Amino acid sequence: MLSHILVTGGAGYIGSHTCLELLNAGYRVSVVDNLSNSKFESLNRVHKLSSADQKIDFFECDILDEQKMTEIFQQQKPDAVIHFAGLKAVGESVEIPLDYYQNNIAGTITLLRIMKTCNVKNFVFSSSATVYGDPASVPILENFPTSVNNPYGRSKLYIEEICADIFKSDDSWNMAMLRYFNPVGAHKSGEIGEDPNGIPNNLLPYISQVAIGKREKLSVFGNDYPTSDGTGVRDYIHVVDLAIGHIKALEKLSQNPGLVTYNLGTGKGYSVLEMLHAFEKACGHKIAYQIVDRRAGDIAECYADPSFAKKEINWQATHDLEQMMRDAWNWQSKNPDGYN
Ligand code: NAD
Ligand code: UFG
Repeated sequence: MLSHILVTGGAGYIGSHTCLELLNAGYRVSVVDNLSNSKFESLNRVHKLSSADQKIDFFECDILDEQKMTEIFQQQKPDAVIHFAGLKAVGESVEIPLDYYQNNIAGTITLLRIMKTCNVKNFVFSSSATVYGDPASVPILENFPTSVNNPYGRSKLYIEEICADIFKSDDSWNMAMLRYFNPVGAHKSGEIGEDPNGIPNNLLPYISQVAIGKREKLSVFGNDYPTSDGTGVRDYIHVVDLAIGHIKALEKLSQNPGLVTYNLGTGKGYSVLEMLHAFEKACGHKIAYQIVDRRAGDIAECYADPSFAKKEINWQATHDLEQMMRDAWNWQSKNPDGYN
């Protein structure tokens, strides 16, 4: 049984929701985060929401800092690592690829080397549906071919391949590659949620900021895709469902499965306009939008076949679109300036 989990990037959006689920499930949790894209306040709120007596041991540290990270591992002695820490903006990765490779790939190599030295060989990795590129068909199964066209996606795919090489060299490792589809929403309390810096890149945070009056209107990137209404279709998954997927993956790792890969998605795709109209229902008013050109690198449709995760780890998403939108709006309206 794995009982003590070290979470890198645990103060971030998905990390904070996962820390809460870990605490509530009785795990001991240590977090390493350099707070480059998050605030410690998220973990204060996790403590407030948690039913556990245990508090998180927090270390403000960069995963690239080998010496400090080694000390943390030696002192904390975790059984497993959930690795969220990473940079995640596709467009930015095209502008500053070296920063992405350094932070994501070199950071993960540093982490894995320390894990090996400290004999911690249970690893859950935040991968992404982006590794499927533009899929030949939907829904997407785990054995579909991979292809990437930007440094962010390449960093995810290379890390998956590095993990496969490590496992080949030493099969005492247990590694779960979790390919997330599009995480949205927030904890139902409205206390923790997504708090993007600057102009949001992703659809839901952008819609939320238009709804709250911080931005004028949504730009819909293209309405000439071969989809039901011409706008892009994605598999949006409630962040709490995603967080629970990590608990299920840890339970699997405790059975020594070796290297495993799961899609974490709902299996259902929604278009940009369907998302916009669902959000209008949740917030109770119209949201302004305009149709603009396609965004470079976007694909028409992407949604998961999540049946393998259901079969192997007994996980499936339970929140529907209405709950995702309600919780996203609850977070946004309670925290118009995020954690500030
Ligand atoms: P986030 O930015 O909210 O969280 C990432 C956290 O990692 C932040 O708290 C940041 O401060 C920290 N961090 C970054 N680099 C670090 C470093 N070198 N050392 C220590 N801490 C560092 O992002 P998120 O949405 O919670 O995503 C978590 C993970 O899931 C990322 O790896 C991301 O690539 C992946 N992912 C996210 C999405 C999505 O749409 N949100 C989709 C697929 C995969
Ligand atoms: N979109 C708009 N306007 C916006 C933002 C997005 O029309 O202002 C559209 C996009 O064109 C796309 C859909 O909304 O059709 C979703 O776009 P997002 O940027 O929210 O998400 P992506 O599917 O492009 O990418 C996200 C993450 C990636 C991750 C991928 C799969 O940004 O890091 O999901 O998990 F890899």
